[in-house]
Amino acid sequence: MKIAIVGAAGRMGRMLVKLSGEGKDFEVVAEIDVADGFAREWPEGTEAVIDFSFHSAVPPSIAKAAEQGIPYVIGTTGLTPEEQAVVDAAATKIPVVQSGNYSLGVNLLLNLVKTAAKVLGSEYDVEVVEMHHRHKKDAPSGTALMLAKSAAEGLGIAFDDVAVYGRKGMVGERPKGEIAVHALRGGSVVGDHTVMFAGDVERVEITHKAQSREAFAAGALRAAQWAANRAPGLYTMRDVLGFNK
Ligand SMILES: NC(=O)c1ccc[n+]([C@@H]2O[C@H](COP(=O)([O-])OP(=O)(O)OC[C@H]3O[C@@H](n4cnc5c(N)ncnc54)[C@H](O)[C@@H]3O)[C@@H](O)[C@H]2O)c1
Repeated sequence: MKIAIVGAAGRMGRMLVKLSGEGKDFEVVAEIDVADGFAREWPEGTEAVIDFSFHSAVPPSIAKAAEQGIPYVIGTTGLTPEEQAVVDAAATKIPVVQSGNYSLGVNLLLNLVKTAAKVLGSEYDVEVVEMHHRHKKDAPSGTALMLAKSAAEGLGIAFDDVAVYGRKGMVGERPKGEIAVHALRGGSVVGDHTVMFAGDVERVEITHKAQSREAFAAGALRAAQWAANRAPGLYTMRDVLGFNK
């Protein structure tokens, strides 16, 4: 499969190039980046585009793929609502897989968190804590938001109505039903996430720790293969893994 990688000079891009070079299933036909020495566009015959770049890079790139009918896999996080609208529009023309986390483990965690929230209920306070390397540009992580939304789904509430991002000052007692998300940054941490359910007599913590970017790159390559010949639409990694069946 002929793939183009957008953000090829970055941490994830380099891992994708390395991993796709190790097997026989993929041929990287374009390493695209704004960095010197990289391509600016993909050639004719490209069968899928994998994008791990920067939020503002996604709309022009996916719009071009939609015009050309090329499936698109988005790993890039931190898109604004306007940028997301361009993605949604492209997904009416081409298959788009979009996930804040392409690892098998985190996608399993989303199901576990939803179940835990459903079982434990509103008596348990939900807090999500994430930690990433010092170079990460957006906060909180796309994964932390996905996990918080899964907890809200399990509780049967809308995350946006109860979301809190960090705390500072005289915030008062914690209201029931709040879901708070906290972002730590430092060192070379690839990605740690914990969802905490704090009750009066016990605390449940569900944790995932990514040990290598390979976990995300392998998932994104699998998503590109899955997207080939799919009907246009906006899919997630859970669709790719068959968790939504
Ligand atoms: N979904 C997942 O599983 C997952 C996992 C890891 C990282 N991410 C996300 O992927 C993105 C990249 O992460 P990273 O750690 O590799 O970042 P990075 O900063 O190391 O790499 C990003 C690359 O994108 C390039 N870039 C910026 N603007 C561009 C443009 N207009 N066109 C082409 N290339 C452009 C930069 O030059 C850089 O080389 C981030 O949004 C991050 O949050 C997602």
